Amino acid sequence: DLNDMNDMSQRTVGEAPRRYRSQDWFDNPDHIDMTALYLERFMNYGITPEELRSGRPIIGIAQSGSDISPCNRIHLELAKRVRDGIRDAGGIAMEFPLHPIFENCRRPTAAIDRNLAYLGLVEILHGYPIDAVVLTTGCDKTTPAQVMAASTVDIPAIVLSGGPMLDGWFEGELAGSGAAIWKGRRQLAAGTIDNEKFLQIAAASAPSAGHCNTMGTASTMNAIAEALGLSLTGCSAIPAPYRERGQMAYETGRRIVEMAKRDIKPSSILTRDAFLDAIVTNAAIGGSTNAQQHIVAMARHAGVELKSSDWMEYGHEVPLLLNMQPAGKFLGERFHRAGGVPAVMWELEQQGMLRSDRATVTGRTMRENLAGRETVDREVIYPFNAPLKTDAGFFVLKGNLFDFAIMKTSVISEAFRARYLSEPGRENVFECRAIVFDGSGDYHARINDPSLAIDEDCILVIRGAGPVGWPGSAEVVNMQPPDALVKRGINWLPTLGDGRQSGTSDSPSILNASPESAVGGGLAWLRTGDRIRVDLNAGQCDALVPEAEWEERKKGPIPAYPASQTPWQEIYRSTVGQMEHGAVMELAVPYRAV
Ligand code: FES
Ligand code: MG
Repeated sequence: DLNDMNDMSQRTVGEAPRRYRSQDWFDNPDHIDMTALYLERFMNYGITPEELRSGRPIIGIAQSGSDISPCNRIHLELAKRVRDGIRDAGGIAMEFPLHPIFENCRRPTAAIDRNLAYLGLVEILHGYPIDAVVLTTGCDKTTPAQVMAASTVDIPAIVLSGGPMLDGWFEGELAGSGAAIWKGRRQLAAGTIDNEKFLQIAAASAPSAGHCNTMGTASTMNAIAEALGLSLTGCSAIPAPYRERGQMAYETGRRIVEMAKRDIKPSSILTRDAFLDAIVTNAAIGGSTNAQQHIVAMARHAGVELKSSDWMEYGHEVPLLLNMQPAGKFLGERFHRAGGVPAVMWELEQQGMLRSDRATVTGRTMRENLAGRETVDREVIYPFNAPLKTDAGFFVLKGNLFDFAIMKTSVISEAFRARYLSEPGRENVFECRAIVFDGSGDYHARINDPSLAIDEDCILVIRGAGPVGWPGSAEVVNMQPPDALVKRGINWLPTLGDGRQSGTSDSPSILNASPESAVGGGLAWLRTGDRIRVDLNAGQCDALVPEAEWEERKKGPIPAYPASQTPWQEIYRSTVGQMEHGAVMELAVPYRAV
C-alpha cells in the first residue's frame, strides 16, 4: 500500500491541493522581496527555486546523531534512506541538527538537555519553512524532547527510532547495556575482578552502533513512542545495524510526506487514551522508571491531563510480559525477533487492556496496526495469563518525606523481598535507619565510612539530586551498599531519593521523590539516624519523627546544593517543575500549535 504514495496526484483527489506553511516563505506573491531572499540561499547547495515553489511539502529531518551522540549516530546513515523515501513520495527533505544528548557522558547530567533540545527544536520548527518533521530518536531523552516539541508546534511528525545495539556477550553470557556495568561494579567492590576486566565487560556490552540494548530508558522511550502511535508499526525494536532498520527509515520518509499531505498532526494522535496505553505498555515491557517523568512531560505538552493516580489505577496491576533485562533475561535482538512492541501490545489488546481504537501515524488505528502481531517466541514474550511477574507497573508512594515517588516493583529480587517485605503479619512493610547523603559526591566520600555502621537495617537516602538541586535530576538513587556489605553478598539495601536511577538498573529504589529537597520537600528535614517506615500496602513512606520536632526542623535552612555553572543551568532551574509533573519548563506548557 505504500506504492500509491508515489503518486503526486494523490493529494488532489477530490479536493484542492493543500497549501503548505512553507509556501508562505517560498511562494508568497504579497511578499516577493522577502520570497527572493528566502529562496536564494537554498540554491547554493543546488536546490532550484522551481523545486521549492512546486507546491511540495518541505520535510524536516531533526538529526539527533553526531560524534558526541554515539547512541544516535546511526541516524547520520539512516537519514539518507529517509531522504530517499521523502523524494520518492514527492517531498523535499531538509535536515538540521538537534541539540545533542548523550546520556552517559553529559555533565552534570543529560537530563538537563531534554528541555534544552525541546526548546531548540520548537524554535526551528516554528521559525523555518518546515511542513512536517521526522524525529530521529534513540538515546534516552532524545525521544521525549522531540515529541514534546512536535506537540508544541503541532505540525505532522513521525518518530524514527535508531534502534538498539546488537546483543553484547562476555565470556559466553549476555552482557546488556548498563546491567553489565552495575554487575561489574559489584564484582569490583567485592574484589572478584580487576579494573582491566571491568573495562572489557563494558566494551563487550556495546558491540555495535545503536542505543542501549536492555529495556533501559532508550528502548523504553522508543517503545512508548510506538505505543503512542507515533512511529510505523514495529519500528522501535529493530536493532540499529539490521537491514530492516534502513528499510524502516525509507518507509518512514515516505509516510511523513503522506502525513503532510493529509495534515495528520500530533494533536490528533496524542490523546489521553494514547497516554493510558503508554502507561499500560510500559508496565508490560518492564520499562524504565524514567518513563514516568517523560510520559508526563509529553502528555502535558500535548495538553493531556495525566493524574499521579493514573500510574496505580491503569499501570500497577499490569503483568510483566517481556523477558528482557533488567527485569528479565534477554536483550534487544531477541525482543525484535520475538515481534517487538506490537507483539507485547497484541497480548494486551487480546485482554482488552488497551484503548486501541485511536489514530496513529500509519493512518490506521492502533487496533488495526496490531492485527496478526502475535509473538513467535514465547521465551521472550509471555502470555498475559501466565506472565513473568504480576503487578509490574510502578508503585506510587507518598508521606511526610514527599508527595509523590515511584518504585519499580518488577525488579524486586526474591532475596530483597524475603529480607524486607516478608515479615509474617507485616508483609510489604519494613522499617529502616536512614543514612542521608547530600548529593552523590557526599555518597562516594562517605559510603565506606565505618562510623556510619551501615548494615541491613539501613536505608540509603540521597537528596539534592532533583531537577533543581542537581540540576537536571541525577541518576544516582540506585546507590550500592558499602564494599564490606557487598563482600558479604548483600548487593542491595533499600534506597530512596529525589533523583532518578538508570533505567537499566535492577535496584528496587524509591525514586523521583517530589517535591525535592532543594525546594523544601520533606527529604530536606530528614537526618541520619531517623527511622523510615515503608508500607507498600498503604502506599506510604514516612520518617518516624514526632510531629513537633519535624515542624521545628522545618524552620531551619534547606540543605545547600551546588551553584549553577552555566547560564542554561540557571535558566533550567528557574523554569523547571518537579518530577511528579514531568520536570518540564512550566512556562512552555501553555504554548500549543505555534
Ligand atoms: Fe545512550 Fe543508553 S546511553 S542509549
Ligand atoms: Mg539513563
